[in-house]
Amino acid sequence: MYRSHTNGELRIDHLNQEVTLAGWVQKSRDKGFIIWVDLRDRYGITQLVFDAERTPQEVMEKARKLNREFVIQIKGKVIERESKNKAIPTGEIEVLVTDFYILNEAKTPPFTIENETDGGEDLRMKYRYLDIRRNPVKDKLIFRSKVAMEVRNYLSKEGFIEVETPYLIKSTPEGARDFVVPSRMNGGQFYALPQSPQTFKQLLMVGGLDKYFQIVKCFRDEDLRADRQPEFTQIDCEMAFVEQEDILNTFEGLTKYLIKNINGVEVENFPRMTYDEAMKTYGNDKPDIRFGMKFAELNEVTQHKDFKVFNEAELVVGIAVPSAGSYSRKEIDELIKWVQRPQVGAKGMVYVKCNEDGTFKSSVDKFYDQDDLATWAKLTGAKAGDLICVLSGETNATRAQLSALRMELGNRLGLRKADEFAPLWVVDFPLLEWDEETKRYHAMHHPFTSPKAEQLPLLATDPGAVKANAYDLVLNGNEIGGGSIRIHDKATQAMMFDYLGFTPEEAKAQFGFLMDAFQYGAPPHGGIAFGLDRLVAILGGQESIRDFIAFPKNNSGRDVMIDAPARIDEAQLKELHLATTFTAKES
Ligand code: AMO
Repeated sequence: MYRSHTNGELRIDHLNQEVTLAGWVQKSRDKGFIIWVDLRDRYGITQLVFDAERTPQEVMEKARKLNREFVIQIKGKVIERESKNKAIPTGEIEVLVTDFYILNEAKTPPFTIENETDGGEDLRMKYRYLDIRRNPVKDKLIFRSKVAMEVRNYLSKEGFIEVETPYLIKSTPEGARDFVVPSRMNGGQFYALPQSPQTFKQLLMVGGLDKYFQIVKCFRDEDLRADRQPEFTQIDCEMAFVEQEDILNTFEGLTKYLIKNINGVEVENFPRMTYDEAMKTYGNDKPDIRFGMKFAELNEVTQHKDFKVFNEAELVVGIAVPSAGSYSRKEIDELIKWVQRPQVGAKGMVYVKCNEDGTFKSSVDKFYDQDDLATWAKLTGAKAGDLICVLSGETNATRAQLSALRMELGNRLGLRKADEFAPLWVVDFPLLEWDEETKRYHAMHHPFTSPKAEQLPLLATDPGAVKANAYDLVLNGNEIGGGSIRIHDKATQAMMFDYLGFTPEEAKAQFGFLMDAFQYGAPPHGGIAFGLDRLVAILGGQESIRDFIAFPKNNSGRDVMIDAPARIDEAQLKELHLATTFTAKES
């Protein structure tokens, strides 16, 4: 038996018990006559004591040789500590060691394995197994496991069954690039790793499974950000015989259940907002509604004077920043520089200080009088003491810029509180999205999303205006899930492929299996997929998903620990019929 108790378990009730413990040496303090060692495992830390008066001499000598991260097993007696440590649950006791064994020695770790570490991100990733020994990382993985377990509990209770779908498939167009896998047995042919199990879950509905879910890895070759990884996990779900309302209710239920069971917070029914409204009011299709600063469009009240910048703009739009009217000139200049950074891209910013005495001071006083500025204040909802920030230009770009500023100010003003949960549904997404690069329409969600039936005729005249039965679940300004009601008949699906620029031959080659299936009695169906990594990070009060993933990739998509991706040898390339792709010189 390696241990009788874990290192998080012993309390004052265990006094005088003989125990066996095992774990890692977190640190050792040698005071000559007495040596203290913190012994760590997943469950906590127990203080060991070696004492020249009570511990055998040879054990004492052996203990002096203990280094950080040695794996040891000890035998000893639980005693009461003289100076108690209230900060840890085992802080009232210590274990007086009578004997111990070194189970494994350890090199000195490249960074300190404590809550606060001196290890930089790269180093921690290279030695991720050591990083995982640290509480902040370990706790996040335990947290993730708990969320996944609760998801399974809820969905099973609701009658969903978990089905695994294949990883070696044919490309599914979800808007990113595929990772491909060469086939040895079928020379020159490739599998693609799924960007999502989209088509398979639809086929499961044709198969009559009715309610499906899967906690599943998805693979997308896209540029990385704090909330994106090339391989990530979805809670993927699909239901048959449902309308949008059924899906929203079911998954609102799941989300409420998680927030309640994981965070102990009850949330009200989720508000709903159309995509158009979200873009107009927050400049963003995933608005953070934990705070206000709603957009006010100011075209009508700004374009009657000689200010050319506004007169020529497609959109003039402003927000009221609470209590920022007292910003100094320097602070405002800094804000202007912030919106002018290439990442944001605004040309400039007009501002109005709403003075406490009810007057206004703006950067465009030359063009606008106090009455004008009072109107802007009314429309933006600015009160005395606030600052109005106004941007102008092309509609989409200006909205994105003001949205970036709003989020930045939300952060700076401490309005984005991690323990507050503000979910909402964004509904009625456009079906299609114009792509400037390829000069054609793409499916905004994916090609299987059904258009709103009453808008079908619009497809011929104004495709960009057609709305879909598609929805996103947004939590604290992050898209944590997205889904749609699907097309379930061959004719509509064929028409969609046509609008997306697929020839009938291309559509058949890529999606023939789905269209075939639709001829054999496909039920009406729809679904959603949550980003598990994102959901877990947000429930855990953070926005970066990396620490909630055991072995994440870095910003260049590399696993620096195992050093992947890597070259493969010539023989393997040949076997995969890729030998001609790289020459020996290149490698
Ligand atoms: P979608 O593409 O919206 O929908 O993806 C669903 C959710 O997955 C998460 N997500 C990601 N998380 C981390 N890293 C990434 N690279 C990444 N990409 C997406 C997001 C997103 O909301 N098949 C459809 C779902 C459906 O229609 O049912 C789909 O995959 O949280």
